[in-house]
Amino acid sequence: MRVAARIAELPPYLFARIDELKAEARAKGADLIELGIGDPDLPTPAHVVAALEKAARDPRHHQYPSYVGMEAFRRAAAAFYGRRFGVSLDAAREVVALIGSKEGIAHFPMAVVDPGDLVLVPDPGYPVYETWTRFVGGEVHKMPLRRDRGFLPDLAAIPTDVARRARVLWINYPNNPTAALATEAFYGDVVAFARAHDIIVASDLAYSEIYFGEPPRSFLETPGAMDVGIEFHSLSKTYNMTGWRVGWAAGNAMLVGALGKVKTHTDSGCFEAIQLAGVAALEGPQDVVADLRATYRARRDVLCGGLREVGFDIVEPKAAFYTLVACPAGLSSLDFTARLLAEAHVVATPATGFGAAGEGFVRLTLCAPEVRLVEAVRRMAKVAAAFR
Ligand code: MLT
Repeated sequence: MRVAARIAELPPYLFARIDELKAEARAKGADLIELGIGDPDLPTPAHVVAALEKAARDPRHHQYPSYVGMEAFRRAAAAFYGRRFGVSLDAAREVVALIGSKEGIAHFPMAVVDPGDLVLVPDPGYPVYETWTRFVGGEVHKMPLRRDRGFLPDLAAIPTDVARRARVLWINYPNNPTAALATEAFYGDVVAFARAHDIIVASDLAYSEIYFGEPPRSFLETPGAMDVGIEFHSLSKTYNMTGWRVGWAAGNAMLVGALGKVKTHTDSGCFEAIQLAGVAALEGPQDVVADLRATYRARRDVLCGGLREVGFDIVEPKAAFYTLVACPAGLSSLDFTARLLAEAHVVATPATGFGAAGEGFVRLTLCAPEVRLVEAVRRMAKVAAAFR
């Protein structure tokens, strides 16, 4: 017996490996401060849980759901796009429900990438963009995201022969792991680039509702974007629903339809009770989201202010709930992550886990109570002191 080469050669999923390291440290009795994975620590709003309970008791929801999502869910997603971004979507043709946006992001290359096609992927970037491109036989061209460019890729630096072969361009703003935002002008350039080279734009918008200034834009707001693009959205971060696995993709009808077709051959849709809870989240009171933003803002001030005070160079997040911390001189991302775990019992993510261009940074999340962030700063100050 043997497993497929694609699996044998695949490194462990970043957060699965970090889970192992955490388990080892905990087994030795360490009081870990978990700032590794971007998994909200706060509960799902009560009215959303209540909607799930009600729907789960109704036998009408116990059978196979629709492959592409309930009409009520897709309408709620389309209405959200209308309210929030001024984007008008046909819920029947331009929205497909997902079992979490990660599921759709993984399956999308199956719909649009042929063996040998090139896919343009941000570096650092969410690992799934690259992994599934390779799973379907595609090749990856990395677009470095540099701090001095506001972590936006330099489209003009993409060689013409690469652009000519490229089928898909992935973008992700608010960005994971850099917490950067895209500008309207950048999105305009993306549409022009996609049109010039006949490239599909896949935009990952999982963090759009977590922001500290102007609300982030959707790529689909850009004139011409619906002709070239699809956007992946999630309820995970907006409503503390990472465990529920529910999201959607929206955009160009041909792209949405192709992804829906992959799904009909792959899964049997998302449990209807979860979709109806999603409807309750999208259509219920939105003060829960405003409160969440206020919580993350206070946490950001504690963590970023504290780390700066004790001498760290940090990238202040504009949105999402991450902050990049520059490694002290002489330490790689992996070394710094290991020292934070061993000496401060703080779980960080090496930004190199998102690609080689993440070297020089670790990523911390804001997914822990303020009191733990204060404690993390206190412990990390000792690590910083060793480098003064
Ligand atoms: C992260 O920590 O990067 C995210 O939680 C990953 C995800 O959303 O799947």
